[in-house]
Parts: sequence; structure tokens; C-alpha cells
Amino acid sequence: MKTVSLTIDGKKITARTGEKILWAALDNGIYIPNLCAMRDEAESEAACRLCFVEIEGKEEPVTACTEEVAEGMAVNTRGEKALDLARTGFELLMASHPVDCANCPANRACELQRIAKHLKVSLKAKHFRLLLRNLPVDDSNPLFTYDPNKCVLCGRCVRVCRQRRETAILGFAHRGFERVVTTFGDEPIGDRCLECGECVELCPTGALAFKDGKRPK
Ligand code: FES
Repeated sequence: MKTVSLTIDGKKITARTGEKILWAALDNGIYIPNLCAMRDEAESEAACRLCFVEIEGKEEPVTACTEEVAEGMAVNTRGEKALDLARTGFELLMASHPVDCANCPANRACELQRIAKHLKVSLKAKHFRLLLRNLPVDDSNPLFTYDPNKCVLCGRCVRVCRQRRETAILGFAHRGFERVVTTFGDEPIGDRCLECGECVELCPTGALAFKDGKRPK
């Protein structure tokens, strides 16, 4: 396996040639906010716009889930430009996300809580008007519930469903503020789901949550 040497936040590391900065950082204990990237995908959809980092010699921050490591590269995950972009993206996202952590099944395991702490921002958007959707919760699946109001549209559930099933049941519908993860024809998820539970495990928020709090054995 070919490797390259680089630094992230001053820490010298080696990473597999072709590896994305995001995975190289996480594998070396350096956290970068991320919601949409999935490790087994060759190319990230770069949808959440939270994983910005700065690279010495480059004028603008780049997304760590799409940028490959390179020999001698110096990555800074704490640069102000990168953090500003991530904070703005996070606030936009939280402007349509209900904050009711105490009553959420993902409380303390939620990626949004981790990101807010990392970026040193509140979970409640301060610069954008709160615009919540009031969509019905789908409780039809015996294994898990789906609350679209808590979905951040990262797309992980849609992509893993597509990977695991010949005919995926999850997909996106509508555009803009109306965009939502749903089933074909908006049928209840319980009707055609095989209950593998992988979408629930990949959900970074409490949108998909096992009914008993964890995946049954
Ligand atoms: S993890 Fe990079 S854009 Fe979402």
C-alpha cells in the first residue's frame, strides 16, 4: 500500500495515497465536522458543507471529504475561514431543525450536539429565522421510527438503502425547503422495509431511531 506523509493541525501522520483528508484526520483522532460522507463511498456527495479545512498554499478552504491527501500537505482544521464556513452551514441547517434534545432518542449521541460543541456555537440558530416543518412521524416500522422533522438531508440512509437493496425504498422527494427523505409514493416505511436497520445506524441525528434504543441482535 502506498502512503503519503502530511501534517494535520501540526501533527505528522501518514495516510494511504488517494485517501480523503476527512478519513485521514478521523483515523488519527482529529475531528472534523461531517454529516454526509460515508467511508465506503469512492466519492462523497459533499452535501452538508460542514467539513471545511484550510490547506497551506491554497487561498480558499476545501471540503475534507472530497480533497485527497498529498505528500507534504499541511492541513489546518482550525483556520478561521474554514470554521466560519462550517458555522454558517451549521446555522442554516439548525434554522430548520427542532431543538428538543431532552426528548430526542439521539440525545448525547447526536452528531449535531458534537458539531455545535466543536464549533463552539449554540444548537439554536441565531442569525436565521427558525422555520420548522411540522411533518408527521412515521411509526409504521416495527424496528424504528422516522421523524422527518429531525432529518438533516445528509442522504446516508438513502444511499445505504440503495447499496443494500435491489430496489431501494428510501429516496428524496421535492426540492428546496420541501425536500424530504421518503418512500416511493410516500407509503409508510413499514410497508416494504426489510428491517436491516443500517439506515438507522447511519443516521447522524434522531430522525431514524430504533424503538428500543438500540438495534436488536
Ligand atoms: S462531510 Fe464533507 S460536505 Fe458533508
